[in-house]
Amino acid sequence: MTQQEFGKTADGRAASLYTLTNKHGVQVAITNFGGTVVSIKIPDRQGNFVDVTHGYDDVGGYAGGKAYFGATVGRYGNRIAHGEFAIDGVKYTLAKNDGDNTLHGGIIGFNKVFWDAKDVTGSGPASLQLDYLSKDGEEGFPGNLRVRVVFTLTDANELKIVYSATTDKKTVLNLTNHTYFNLAGSGTILDEELTLAADKFTPVDKGLIPTGELRPVAGTAFDFHKPTAIGSRIGNDEEQLKFGHGYDHNWVLDSPGSGKPTLAATVVDPKSGRKLEVWTTEPGIQFYTGNFLDGSIHGKGGTPYVLRSALCLETQHFPDSPNHPSFPTTELLPGAKFTSETIFKFSTQ
Ligand code: GLA
Repeated sequence: MTQQEFGKTADGRAASLYTLTNKHGVQVAITNFGGTVVSIKIPDRQGNFVDVTHGYDDVGGYAGGKAYFGATVGRYGNRIAHGEFAIDGVKYTLAKNDGDNTLHGGIIGFNKVFWDAKDVTGSGPASLQLDYLSKDGEEGFPGNLRVRVVFTLTDANELKIVYSATTDKKTVLNLTNHTYFNLAGSGTILDEELTLAADKFTPVDKGLIPTGELRPVAGTAFDFHKPTAIGSRIGNDEEQLKFGHGYDHNWVLDSPGSGKPTLAATVVDPKSGRKLEVWTTEPGIQFYTGNFLDGSIHGKGGTPYVLRSALCLETQHFPDSPNHPSFPTTELLPGAKFTSETIFKFSTQ
């Protein structure tokens, strides 16, 4: 693992960039600011390496940015309606940053803070450990939450992300990684083919808050059981696609929840042959097609990131779970240890 400077935030704090490399030359770069995956360089079927992620050239872009490129998202990934929830009858009010709702942890989420970084490679594959203490009351959430995220790049071309957390007061928690992928390295993701192991999804209202329903995907543009080009139905006349301005929804994974990661999603770029598999222990996955990208963000090398130039597959518990008792619980109790694992596995076909 190498460590280099990654610029300074406006308040003068220096960020570092850690680069993990495996025996195939695959490289993943991560910064301690926001626990952010800055780049992932993988080969196509001819062996041509390209960076398949959106992001910025230095920490300044991430500190000022609003798109969550590559970020570790928390304390609560996705939306909490009206920035409110209750635990044991006690109401908590959160910082709102998405109209009347709280998105991705609030105004200063885990993507906007410095994490303590440690190289924990030892004799195994390159491995970076990030730690963060989210204080009681931060963004309105209860409990001092100690969060650890360990990123490991294996020789099987897997980026493994292992999350763990403990609290000293009952709280809610939903951690994810918000990498934007474009397996071609440029252009849009509309020709990339997606498979999702999900029979149901959680439909949303206009504000992208789940209604509480678990709706079968069968017969809709949300059925990705068979590999399907992402662009083939994105413009369909379906209310849910209109609400999301494309895909921006949580799929309910079929996985049995054995505690071992199961295959949730596969993306293939037919031209380059690059393939991404997403394995997770989480019960849901947010598939988002970069609907808020409009070319106004200039990222790495000044590249304008246009509409649908990348996709996100955010493994997670369901959005707004604290307000939906029927959804799998996101509560964490003192004395308990939260763990979660997601693997991004890269190959070609
Ligand atoms: C998630 C949300 C989207 C959007 C992106 C970040 O995918 O569901 O609505 O906020 O994050 O831009």
